[in-house]
Amino acid sequence: MDKTVVVFGVTGRQGGAAAKHLLKTGWSVKGVTRNPDSKKAIKLSASGVELVKADLDNPEALKKAFDGVNAVFSVQNPWITGLEKEIEHGIRIAEMAVAADVKHLVYASAGTGESNTGVPHFNSKIEIEAHIKSLGIPFTILRSASFMELMRDKDFLPPLVMWNVKPKILGEDFPVMWISTDDVGAIAAVVCNEPDTFIGKELSLGADLKSVKECREIYRSVYGKPPKRIPAPVWLFKLMQNDLYQMFLWMKSRLEPKSIIDETRQIHSGALNVERWMQKMKEVDFPSAGQVRDF
Ligand SMILES: NC(=O)c1ccc[n+]([C@@H]2O[C@H](COP(=O)([O-])OP(=O)(O)OC[C@H]3O[C@@H](n4cnc5c(N)ncnc54)[C@H](OP(=O)(O)O)[C@@H]3O)[C@@H](O)[C@H]2O)c1
Repeated sequence: MDKTVVVFGVTGRQGGAAAKHLLKTGWSVKGVTRNPDSKKAIKLSASGVELVKADLDNPEALKKAFDGVNAVFSVQNPWITGLEKEIEHGIRIAEMAVAADVKHLVYASAGTGESNTGVPHFNSKIEIEAHIKSLGIPFTILRSASFMELMRDKDFLPPLVMWNVKPKILGEDFPVMWISTDDVGAIAAVVCNEPDTFIGKELSLGADLKSVKECREIYRSVYGKPPKRIPAPVWLFKLMQNDLYQMFLWMKSRLEPKSIIDETRQIHSGALNVERWMQKMKEVDFPSAGQVRDF
């Protein structure tokens, strides 16, 4: 099979990681971005990604993204677009993939696929999943646990959310399932490389189960100091970020099965636990002389 894939969200966390691992495993990668002149896009282009300038709001411009591809990696971010657009974009990608006779659609979802969570950004994904299934296109759904990047990436406001509000709602000792977005990308590549194994599968992905207290201790031992914490009341967080607040309540209502970790490692044995991921992040933050920053 010709290995050409189009990756949506290629300048983002999951899409960027998927592109990196697909390139490594011999795929020609097309990557959709609204801004090919951004720093991230220029770096991707230098690494071998063929950039396609297109906006998901513009179906005409999107057509060229599907030319000659037999696999699609689809991801949306409702915090950038809003929930309605997330659904519209996720459905658009799936329908255009069908029109282009794409052989495998890999959809980066979240949550558990259950419709009773009360979490708006899980429900939007269920709508997209249902539409994908109704189209009859060969698909794989990836349902990632909490990203380890929540502990570090500025977009996620870790001092406020990870190190303050989350433990206040969940409890310091409540076990949370984690996975790094680099490992999500590695798994997306495995899935694209082994369609016979993964088509029709809905995969829950997680590589470590650790409480916020344990993560804070790991942070302290790796970085030599505790993570910054900005105190803020839960009621204010609920007012500002009700979707995330609902997600934390839902998380608290259930324990993640440890079996997810074994199942994830069966697909990608190198999936990092929190400690190893954080050590890698420290190398990125403080590279030793001559070290290459490639994470
Ligand atoms: N945070 C967690 O713990 C967690 C866990 C599991 C799942 N999730 C889910 O992960 C998803 C976000 O994934 P991510 O973090 O990888 O996203 P991300 O890093 O924010 O990347 C979003 C990408 O979307 C692209 N984009 C946005 N609007 C676009 C448009 N109109 N047309 C074309 N491209 C557009 C951006 O590209 P350009 O700006 O270059 O155009 C960017 O590359 C969310 O759905 C979230 O619910 C999150």
